[in-house]
Amino acid sequence: MNFWEQYPDLHKDLDKVESKLRQEVRSRNATIESILFRLVNAGGKRLRPALVLLSGRYARVKEEKLIPLAASVEMLHMATLVHDDVIDDADFRRGIETTHRKWDNHTAIFAGDYLLSKAFGVLTHNTEYKDAAVMAKAFKFICEGEIEQYYTRNNINTSIKKYLTRIRYKTAMLFSMSCYLGASPSKLPRHEKNALGMYGMHMGMAFQIRDDLLDFLSSGKQLGKPVINDVRQGIYTLPVIYALNDRKYGRELRRLLQDKDKPEERLDEITRLIINSGAVEKSKALQQKYLNKGRNIIRILTPNIHSGAMRDLLSFTADREK
Ligand code: IPE
Ligand code: IPE
Ligand code: MG
Ligand code: MG
Repeated sequence: MNFWEQYPDLHKDLDKVESKLRQEVRSRNATIESILFRLVNAGGKRLRPALVLLSGRYARVKEEKLIPLAASVEMLHMATLVHDDVIDDADFRRGIETTHRKWDNHTAIFAGDYLLSKAFGVLTHNTEYKDAAVMAKAFKFICEGEIEQYYTRNNINTSIKKYLTRIRYKTAMLFSMSCYLGASPSKLPRHEKNALGMYGMHMGMAFQIRDDLLDFLSSGKQLGKPVINDVRQGIYTLPVIYALNDRKYGRELRRLLQDKDKPEERLDEITRLIINSGAVEKSKALQQKYLNKGRNIIRILTPNIHSGAMRDLLSFTADREK
């Protein structure tokens, strides 16, 4: 069952976000339009727009305000995915060929930029300028996180602390901003808006840890995107860092990662070693800490149907298979 079906109001809102997205990706340029329609139709979990809606509904913000906000956040997210797939050299996403594979890198850069400008266009049309500043800041963080990741590729001396900072920037900030933005037009006291933002932040951290685990544990068919792609790109995520620090397995992993001769042939061995080292369990334990932090935040919110859905969404994030 689709997670959102348990929440009919949210489900209806998300359908409206879909319509809004379809409406907004129109362009007088036929190439741009077909790229963006294809992206929207390929779906995706729509987690960030759902956070805007949940948080906004919690704060009693009217639907007319929330739908464009949610759509703009999804467009920003899609823009980052189109560009991220160029950077990560990924062949497919959301189960279909990536834009740069079907067209080319240049076209993908244009399409991402177009989506980005649309995201800000829709946002500024429907909200206050200070909210656009909040979204701009989240986007700035994503760029900083992504470039930091790019320039620290193949660094076997990276640390858990650096990893956590990186995923906070590249992923969790947008989750946080989605929650904050949903509640922004409301009269909710500042501390409650901030609490919603913190909820999103913790969820985003748990979400990216899960993403990094799935890269090892899942299949391309299940995820709709390539697997074992992080190590292939020289990106060492949490499970790799745990395994690198393992007394028994660390040395061998270092050797495998640094051996530049036919690296493709070593990927299976690297994966096996990471799994055997217990790094998956350690990563899950750290993910659990963020989930608990998220749950603790919900406890300080006023209990209602929306706070219940927020709690369920945390568990969904933790256990998701795609
Ligand atoms: C992918 O995000 C990018 C990451 C931050 C890991 P999602 O897993 O939410 O992608 P879609 O929107 O469902 O395709
Ligand atoms: C992507 O992180 C984060 C973005 C800001 C787009 P990943 O590179 O892990 O995302 P996937 O695995 O390609 O979806
Ligand atoms: Mg990627
Ligand atoms: Mg990933």
